[in-house]
Amino acid sequence: MIPLPPFHDDLDASLNELWRLLEAGAASARTAFHTPSLATIDGQGRPQVRTVVLRSADRGSGTLRFHCDRRSHKADDIARSGFAALHAYDAQDKVQIRVSGSATLHADDAVADAAWAVSMAMSRVCYGTAPAPGTVIATGGAYTLPDEGATGGGRANFCAVVVAVETLEFLYLDRRGHRRAGWARSGEGWSGDWLVP
Ligand SMILES: Cc1cc2nc3c(=O)[nH]c(=O)nc-3n(C[C@H](O)[C@H](O)[C@H](O)COP(=O)(O)O)c2cc1C
Repeated sequence: MIPLPPFHDDLDASLNELWRLLEAGAASARTAFHTPSLATIDGQGRPQVRTVVLRSADRGSGTLRFHCDRRSHKADDIARSGFAALHAYDAQDKVQIRVSGSATLHADDAVADAAWAVSMAMSRVCYGTAPAPGTVIATGGAYTLPDEGATGGGRANFCAVVVAVETLEFLYLDRRGHRRAGWARSGEGWSGDWLVP
């Protein structure tokens, strides 16, 4: 039988594993944590959820970053509410991670400039779509994208979103005993508890 992982009954190790998985997800497309679901609350108070690419996870500052079009519904939701939650389940690792916190849009500052500077041409063109994302159009193809060569085109619509994590939750599935733990930000660190799975 496969041995239980070292974090199975170790709360601090579970928190380390959670951040390790998020950081690995931001670095590589090979895990489910690369493409978490992002939840926001819309203008009618209803939950909305969709996939985003996790661009960075930084356990030192307790922040996550993803990118979106500033004209998108998700950007509107975040501007209005100031909050976001992310979730992913990796079936290989048998780990679900849930994160929530305050979210800030960065469109015209150094955070956005730095994120844009390292984004690839094929990503950049998405921000030049016309009309704006979510607009009703007459046929499926009735929108345009700039040429990949015209890489500056989408900058005006590009937005980096930084989530300052306030709560974290980790669920590890194993039939010898599931383990669930939650943490809340406490000063510079995290205050955690085991939870009934
Ligand atoms: C694999 C995958 C990755 C995606 N990554 C992003 C992303 O990083 N940022 C983004 O704004 N939309 C991303 N999308 C598209 C969103 O899921 C969503 O369909 C779109 O942005 C419209 O969402 P909204 O109307 O709620 O703003 C991705 C979709 C998929 C399937």
